[in-house]
Amino acid sequence: MKSRMKLSLLGITATAAIHLHSRSPAPPCTNLASTLSLSDPPYSNYFYSDCNVAAQVVVTSPLPDSNLSTIGPRLIVAWPAGNSGICTFFAPQNGVNGTLSVELVNSTIGQPLAPVYNASSTSNYPNVGVQGIIRFNSSAVLSLPILGSIRTIRDFVEGASILYPEIQNANKYTANSDGSASVERQWLDNVTTTSLCFHPRINGFTSGNSTVTVANGTLEFGAGEYLFTAQFNYPQLASLKPDAVLNNQSTHLTTTMPDQTTALSFLSYSEKLLAGAWRFLTYFGRDSMISALLLESVLSTGNGTAMEAVLGAVLERVNRSDGSVCHEETIGDYATWTNLQDNITSSAMACTYGMVDPDYYLPVLMQRYFLDNPVGQKRASAFFNTTAGSINAANQNLTWGQLALINAERIMRLTAPFAQNQTKSNLIHLKQGQPVGQWRDSEFGIGGGRIPFDVNTALAPAALRSIALLARGGIYKKKQRWSQLADQYAQIWEDNTLQFFEVTIPQSEAQTLVKSYKNASSFAGPDQSSSIDSVLTLYSISLDGYNNLSKVNVMHTDDCFRHYLLNTTDNAQLSKFLNATATNIRRTFPAGLMTDVGMLIANPAFGGDPVYASNWTTGAYHGTVVWSWQLAMMAKGLELQMGRCEVTANFSIPSAKKRVVATPDFCTDDSIFDNVKAAYNALWDSIELNSDQLSTEMWSWVYSDGKFQVTQLVDLPPPPGLSGQTESDIRQLWSLAFLAVSRNANFQ
Ligand SMILES: *[C@@H]1O[C@H](CO)[C@@H](O)[C@H](O)[C@H]1NC(C)=O
Ligand SMILES: *[C@@H]1O[C@H](CO)[C@@H](O)[C@H](O)[C@H]1NC(C)=O
Ligand SMILES: *[C@@H]1O[C@H](CO)[C@@H](O)[C@H](O)[C@H]1NC(C)=O
Ligand SMILES: *[C@@H]1O[C@H](CO)[C@@H](O)[C@H](O)[C@H]1NC(C)=O
Ligand SMILES: *[C@@H]1O[C@H](CO)[C@@H](O)[C@H](O)[C@H]1NC(C)=O
Ligand SMILES: *[C@@H]1O[C@H](CO)[C@@H](O)[C@H](O)[C@H]1NC(C)=O
Ligand SMILES: *[C@@H]1O[C@H](CO)[C@@H](O)[C@H](O)[C@H]1NC(C)=O
Ligand SMILES: *[C@@H]1O[C@H](CO)[C@@H](O)[C@H](O)[C@H]1NC(C)=O
Ligand SMILES: *[C@@H]1O[C@H](CO)[C@@H](O)[C@H](O)[C@H]1NC(C)=O
Ligand SMILES: *[C@@H]1O[C@H](CO)[C@@H](O)[C@H](O)[C@H]1NC(C)=O
Ligand SMILES: *[C@@H]1O[C@H](CO)[C@@H](O)[C@H](O)[C@H]1NC(C)=O
Ligand SMILES: *[C@@H]1O[C@H](CO)[C@@H](O)[C@H](O)[C@H]1NC(C)=O
Repeated sequence: MKSRMKLSLLGITATAAIHLHSRSPAPPCTNLASTLSLSDPPYSNYFYSDCNVAAQVVVTSPLPDSNLSTIGPRLIVAWPAGNSGICTFFAPQNGVNGTLSVELVNSTIGQPLAPVYNASSTSNYPNVGVQGIIRFNSSAVLSLPILGSIRTIRDFVEGASILYPEIQNANKYTANSDGSASVERQWLDNVTTTSLCFHPRINGFTSGNSTVTVANGTLEFGAGEYLFTAQFNYPQLASLKPDAVLNNQSTHLTTTMPDQTTALSFLSYSEKLLAGAWRFLTYFGRDSMISALLLESVLSTGNGTAMEAVLGAVLERVNRSDGSVCHEETIGDYATWTNLQDNITSSAMACTYGMVDPDYYLPVLMQRYFLDNPVGQKRASAFFNTTAGSINAANQNLTWGQLALINAERIMRLTAPFAQNQTKSNLIHLKQGQPVGQWRDSEFGIGGGRIPFDVNTALAPAALRSIALLARGGIYKKKQRWSQLADQYAQIWEDNTLQFFEVTIPQSEAQTLVKSYKNASSFAGPDQSSSIDSVLTLYSISLDGYNNLSKVNVMHTDDCFRHYLLNTTDNAQLSKFLNATATNIRRTFPAGLMTDVGMLIANPAFGGDPVYASNWTTGAYHGTVVWSWQLAMMAKGLELQMGRCEVTANFSIPSAKKRVVATPDFCTDDSIFDNVKAAYNALWDSIELNSDQLSTEMWSWVYSDGKFQVTQLVDLPPPPGLSGQTESDIRQLWSLAFLAVSRNANFQ
């Protein structure tokens, strides 16, 4: 009864507030708004999306045990359109950290969010955004607002605390006659304005101190509740609703896995899919293609669908001069800012091409869709005929088909030297001057290695196999000769790369190594040395790393790329590799990769140099931590390899028709097959135990009470030399892979 009473009282207030802000009516949304609230203390996440706007709001409020030097009261509003946002930090007016808490509260305005839509007389685009009620438990001051691009916000929050005067100095504070006050900033494009307005709740239902003033060059608040309105006038993306993201056979997922399908829809637009919320609400080539591969069986196909959004976004952004796939796009206010650094007055988008791995996913995904998928087969000619340049003006006058060809030419060019002469120097290296270059793209990801394991042993040969098939399928005009040549290259890359990375460690030495690792890392659990019952095999995560390491001997999960993408045919090599993967997955960390919180992506225990223990930590983004999509790809990879033992050619898949399907040797070696099956099920058991985490980007752990326990990365100190910690995204595109990946009962 009490709460109902409060709601009706709030209703009066809300009406008044709406009145004061006179929202003009939005054009009708044919689809209902979709919302998602996710609690992840000290963060609360709220998603709102309808046909006019999509927004994510993240409220941070310190917990009693929060580290107050890193966790402070904060309100973030993030919009996919333009990768835009607002980040505001608040401080208690009494100056005592930890005494101010902030929260969004439900009201008749919204539960807690409502859309904002104001047609503008001065702008081509309406002001759109979200509003809701925010509550401060004590008097507060807006200590820092950053308005404009999420990239500008990331530059500040991700460690370095960088602020740009040309952006910060444009913030304007205004006190309005109706008692509200706002901060707003016009973008460097001179056209778009982002604003955040706070209006005190009137009539004092909840607090008599709810007043906001402009003082000391910022906003100051009394304790109490405020209607906040965050909006901007910028062209919005066309969202793909849950049933438009999924194919017809998979629409039931909107009822069986509503959280995941809502998140997938929030990240899906007709022009592109976005990598994650809130830090990566924009195009990322690698993320979207890996996601499309893993989600292929459930994604919608055809014109205007999720699958074509991914492929079209990638092709639109290919570097026409060398065929590189765009890693990350720079758009919105950050594009104008970046151009300005080059003395260019323009808001044209730009792309970063520093990564080496995205290039290789493109032919693989093209093959899966345009050759293996019946819808894709019919779409190929119209799709590749699409003229590029509508998003990325740099690619004007080319078609997506031409850009696909330029990408394949790059791969043929880069893989040719090794196909001729199998030397280490002919392996694919990171680009010059780039400290990182594949998915483990943080400081200690592959330990500074120049030659990554995944690209060389899996992605390059897989791309070559696909190029051969696409050439046979007539997708690359006038490149018939690739039908044979790319297959020849692929065979060489498949058979001759693994040996550069292979490391075998005698049993007793491996046991000694985990014991010394336990000491070097202060790991609190058992060293598990007794579980090492034979010679240990692992594959270096990279070659030519920091500290003059010719091999960076970190045990890892990147084996999954090879298992997932290739049906290799060198039996001796396959048996050894597959058995090593299985053994390393099954063993508990630090002897292997398994923990109570899932399979770790890296285990530095066998490196033998103390630098390993200090760099690959539980606090490192790509350290001894868990990434959801790696669980999915490994599970799928092991399943595909075991599937080779049962299945003969699937003649419903045209590209499989011509392949010789022979059962690999490991199928008849019980010691290997049973080991793989045991690893597969151990992995699935751990996936099921950690179902609450699976849709998040990544997570870490602490060892206490005799087990590994889930801990968020932000709660752990960063590795040496890094000033700031990384905040894991609450929802990440490729972490939604479990919509399509599940345990295969045939192997249980
Ligand atoms: C108080 O919070 C601010 C802002 O987050 C931070 O810079 C400062 O280090 C904190 N002070 C203490 C004593 O934790
Ligand atoms: C706010 O409303 C939502 C949706 O009705 C509900 O799920 C949530 O529990 C409410 N929160 C509070 C704190 O009452
Ligand atoms: C915005 O206006 C300023 C001042 O007139 C001008 O210097 C600048 O070039 C303009 N920027 C753009 C992107 O048009
Ligand atoms: C301005 O800030 C100073 C120091 O932070 C503080 O002492 C003063 O009370 C503030 N003035 C107002 C009007 O809030
Ligand atoms: C309102 O402000 C007064 C004076 O600062 C304070 O004593 C009181 O606790 C505040 N009330 C609330 C509800 O925060
Ligand atoms: C931009 O112009 C300034 C002033 O003319 C010059 O100092 C700077 O080197 C230029 N920057 C670039 C990237 O060209
Ligand atoms: C390709 O585009 C051109 C020009 O836009 C058009 O004339 C042609 O019919 C298209 N071909 C296909 C196969 O769609
Ligand atoms: C997709 O459909 C739209 C609208 O019918 C059409 O304009 C566009 O040309 C089609 N695109 C492709 C690549 O077929
Ligand atoms: C595309 O062609 C037009 C007309 O020839 C030309 O003006 C424009 O610069 C070209 N665009 C690019 C990116 O090459
Ligand atoms: C392969 O490269 C090695 C090392 O650079 C060189 O000694 C050898 O002659 C090359 N072999 C061929 C066939 O080019
Ligand atoms: C590998 O073989 C399996 C059948 O066992 C098939 O489903 C899969 O598509 C093949 N993968 C590749 C990359 O050829
Ligand atoms: C495969 O690994 C298992 C477990 O480590 C081991 O017992 C078995 O001997 C291995 N099989 C081969 C053929 O190496």
